[in-house]
Amino acid sequence: MPVTTCIFDAYGTLFDVAAAARAAASEPGRDRLAGCWQALAEDWRIKQLSYSWLRAVAGDHTDFWQVTQDALDWSLEAHGLDGDADLRARLLALYRELEAYPEVPAMLSALKARGLVTAILSNGSPGMLSDAVASAGIGEVLDDCLSVESVGVFKPARAVYDLVGQRFGTAPDQVLFVSSNGWDAAAGAAYGFVTAWVNRRGDPVDRLPGRPQHILTDLAALPDLEIY
Ligand code: LAC
Repeated sequence: MPVTTCIFDAYGTLFDVAAAARAAASEPGRDRLAGCWQALAEDWRIKQLSYSWLRAVAGDHTDFWQVTQDALDWSLEAHGLDGDADLRARLLALYRELEAYPEVPAMLSALKARGLVTAILSNGSPGMLSDAVASAGIGEVLDDCLSVESVGVFKPARAVYDLVGQRFGTAPDQVLFVSSNGWDAAAGAAYGFVTAWVNRRGDPVDRLPGRPQHILTDLAALPDLEIY
């Protein structure tokens, strides 16, 4: 069946998760962050994802905003920046308004012009997602924003991917699932979605059940895939 519905992961896929640390590091008086912002951003992201997986496995859910703060606290301490309350507050404020990758608005507009349904499916809490969508100005080209909070478990639990069919009445093969996270793309492919992995960093394919059918370096070519 042709694809009718395009579903996007949010963090790392539509929104650049390194943007918060990068922007804070360029501000006056942030010399210590300027020396380590890339490593801090990497640690923040890895801890955020690790905590989401561990909480899912342990059945000990809390929302992604709490997980994001917990991961930041670990990372600030690891880099000797845990005494800087102003920096912590600034990084969290910037995370609520992460930059979208530059090709995102035109790509979503092109999908809408083709008559496709577009939506986010994310670990993010509803408040985080609505802030990010609003600051990126992409609300008009998204039909919905689905959060894992309605099932209380993080990806890659199947209950999360089930939200798409429940919301849109689609069979998995009518859905293009797009993620920059290799593990999320693998899980989407294993679930039966047509899947595109946005491999911006040239990483190897994850050795997990499910292999993405499409591998892209960014999102620009997505509307041109011959699947719709
Ligand atoms: C999300 C995380 C996985 O947006 O990036 O769901």
